[in-house]
Amino acid sequence: MKLFVFTLISTLLTHTTRTAASSPTINTTHLITTPNFLENIAVRSNNHLLLTSVSTPTIYSLDPSNTSSLYSLPPIPNANSTAGITEIAPDIFAVIAGTMDTEKLRWVLGTVSLWTINLHHTLPVFRHVLNMPEAEGINAITTIPGSPNLVLAADSVAGTVYRIDVKRGRYEVAIKDVLFEPTGPAPSLGINGLHTQASFPFTYLYFTNSALGILGRVRISRIGQAIGPIAVLNDGSRIPGCDDFAIDAEGRAWIATHPASVNLVDGKGGMEVVVNGTGVPDPTSAAFGRGSKAQEGMLYVTTNLLSETGVVGGVVGIDTRSH
Ligand SMILES: *[C@@H]1O[C@H](CO)[C@@H](O)[C@H](O)[C@H]1NC(C)=O
Ligand SMILES: *[C@@H]1O[C@H](CO)[C@@H](O)[C@H](O)[C@H]1NC(C)=O
Ligand SMILES: *[C@@H]1O[C@H](CO)[C@@H](O)[C@H](O)[C@H]1NC(C)=O
Ligand SMILES: *[C@@H]1O[C@H](CO)[C@@H](O)[C@H](O)[C@H]1NC(C)=O
Repeated sequence: MKLFVFTLISTLLTHTTRTAASSPTINTTHLITTPNFLENIAVRSNNHLLLTSVSTPTIYSLDPSNTSSLYSLPPIPNANSTAGITEIAPDIFAVIAGTMDTEKLRWVLGTVSLWTINLHHTLPVFRHVLNMPEAEGINAITTIPGSPNLVLAADSVAGTVYRIDVKRGRYEVAIKDVLFEPTGPAPSLGINGLHTQASFPFTYLYFTNSALGILGRVRISRIGQAIGPIAVLNDGSRIPGCDDFAIDAEGRAWIATHPASVNLVDGKGGMEVVVNGTGVPDPTSAAFGRGSKAQEGMLYVTTNLLSETGVVGGVVGIDTRSH
């Protein structure tokens, strides 16, 4: 997340921007606009997007094939902000909510909680799972493959990955490492994006550290403990402003990067700016579509135009199939 950096960008609607990146250009399509700052994204099996927002406790739903389909789920109680979101069982999502001090980019202590949202019913069913009283910097969350009750949560301030047991309503530190830490006081953010990927027979945890500008990866156990050291995958070229990201089938990371780019890290030392310009203003997160091959090749990026009159959130679709 990165908030309220006042960059004035002249146009709100950016249709089919072709950018001069280092290699083949990629088409971007602006899909929707919201009156709120968008923070994170999860994709349902029907390819509908769930979008969280740092500036409102609601979650948006969008069918990217129908830009009139945008609507808000009911707000989460006792919160003014939502952050990490991940699917823990088919059409059941876990989400972080709380009261966010938007100047410091820190949660107000004692306000962070984890909820589940069950989308099997006509009206979504929300369940409060637990509070995280000492957590000031909870950001992205992800599931541990093969351990359906366990969620990992990045704390950008403490430099910690927590393991949350959704069934028992408990959490504890799973991994703590200097590579997760911020580089200074507020508003510096350390570990930010967080995703697991199963790559038989191992499971890897990928993360970005915004302050250090790195994408890292560590092998983890079924309970989220680190097995072996953390590898930095973009050793030659730092990515200052890297935020959340999506991992593709080849293990490459597509990283939303402030102020306005999507960077591709191939895991073999290479890094490329694939979108750069006004097409992805202040992007915060990215996720691939689900369903058909065409949908799986679409990368959806949450963006935010920040101006003196307020924030305009958006979603941009990027067709990655030529890449
Ligand atoms: C970008 O869009 C244009 C127009 O729709 C299309 O002709 C072109 O093939 C697309 N390029 C890529 C790389 O997808
Ligand atoms: C949420 O509440 C905190 C603490 O009162 C405040 O600093 C922040 O501005 C609020 N966020 C919004 C979007 O109103
Ligand atoms: C698009 O979404 C709107 C609002 O939900 C709905 O009324 C309309 O029928 C949808 N259009 C299509 C083609 O599905
Ligand atoms: C694109 O990125 C390069 C460096 O990677 C930067 O120098 C340039 O200003 C960027 N262009 C735009 C339009 O943002």
